[in-house]
Amino acid sequence: MNREELSKKYNQPESKHIEALQKICGDAFVFTDDEVRNDYGHDQTEDLLFKPSVVVKPRTPEEISEILKLANSENIAVTPRGAGTGLSGGALPVHGGIIISMERFNAILDIDEQNLQCTVETGVINQHLRDAVEAKGLFYPPDPASRGSCYIGGNLAECSGGPKAVKYGVTKDYVLNCEVVLPTGEIIWTGANVLKNSTGYNLTQLMVGSEGTLGIITKVVLKLIPLPSENLLMLAPFKSAEKACEAVSAVFRQGITPSAMEFMEREAIEYVMQFTDVRVDLADDTTAHLLVEVDGNDRDVLFKECEKISEVLYAHDCGEVLFAETSQQKADLWRMRRVVGEAVKSHSVYKEEDTVVPRAHLPELLKGVKQIGAKYGFRSVCYGHAGDGNLHVNIIKENMSDKDWTEKLPLGITEIFKLCISLNGTISGEHGIGWVQKNYMPLRFSPVEIALQKGIKKLFDPNEILNPSKIF
Ligand code: LAC
Ligand code: ZN
Repeated sequence: MNREELSKKYNQPESKHIEALQKICGDAFVFTDDEVRNDYGHDQTEDLLFKPSVVVKPRTPEEISEILKLANSENIAVTPRGAGTGLSGGALPVHGGIIISMERFNAILDIDEQNLQCTVETGVINQHLRDAVEAKGLFYPPDPASRGSCYIGGNLAECSGGPKAVKYGVTKDYVLNCEVVLPTGEIIWTGANVLKNSTGYNLTQLMVGSEGTLGIITKVVLKLIPLPSENLLMLAPFKSAEKACEAVSAVFRQGITPSAMEFMEREAIEYVMQFTDVRVDLADDTTAHLLVEVDGNDRDVLFKECEKISEVLYAHDCGEVLFAETSQQKADLWRMRRVVGEAVKSHSVYKEEDTVVPRAHLPELLKGVKQIGAKYGFRSVCYGHAGDGNLHVNIIKENMSDKDWTEKLPLGITEIFKLCISLNGTISGEHGIGWVQKNYMPLRFSPVEIALQKGIKKLFDPNEILNPSKIF
């Protein structure tokens, strides 16, 4: 069934529903005007726009519970939304209905320095949490590129990663316990505030990465770690992008785990330089860079690690390694890396894929992506978290005809995904499946595996009113 047919399954809110929502949330937090509906009708996924009928901004789990009970009894689709920075369309209200914006759930409730944990509402901005815990000498590592604006709730929904994941793990590795409003309106906690838990099914981890389809997470207890006091950052240019990718796994085989190991093709940096005032000396024959960071508490140890890493990089034909000497230089290099996605998008219509393979297969993946692009007539800019084997492939439309873009491109993407899977990888590492990747799920999962996942959805959400038509 296509989207239009599926949409017929749902009712759109009428004035009696709007009045009921106003009663639940207060008049000031229910919006039906066109401007707001437009604003909440898109996220950062391509140029997609699906307008909701109404946007509500509740403040408590109890209010969300009431909204979901209403939606269930009236058969209205509900889409939860964080900051709208998602890249797979998870927050797009594809069947209209109600958007629940989590922006008023913005309280950091507790930072427990005794146990190295914090409890936060899920509309807290990632950076606000990092700053708050950093002030107490603590560290919340997951750091997606959008960390300045994305919400913790969105990070939970997609199991976000970011550059630090290579050493410290992704969002799921920090989630201990969640308060969730189920699609049928009950409010539950999924686990306990403990580091070990072998008590029943792991509902906490089931919620993480469920893309807002199983419930709305309203509070979360997160693990924290001590903040490392030192870091060193270096930028290494390569003539061969494949050699750069080969160097990645070689570094880890030396027994060093960098706190970031990022890959950027030359074009990625060129787009950044067109888009921002960040400047990097790009030699004519440079085709790719690795951005490598180490962190810890002992500067001498870190210098030794950098020496060892440099040896590996030079053995893979790297050019002269640039060491960031000041914190400004470090900040500039990180800004360059974090803005790549935005810079590439500003250039042309695009599609962003989030491929991931075991890291030693990265060179094969990169080579295959380029070969597939040549076969189907598209150019791609690749960058991402090389240490995790997580390569973002931004496919650029440029001069491709609309016909080729809609007909040939899905074939090319299918081949890229099949390549990932043949290398024991998968089709999304940290952006999620959401709306735009769901047709590719059968490449990764057998019918039995998909049926199990759909069964879980049905158990949580019997009427399929919560974020319908996502993932499957
Ligand atoms: C990044 C986002 C796109 O790594 O995941 O920049
Ligand atoms: Zn990324």
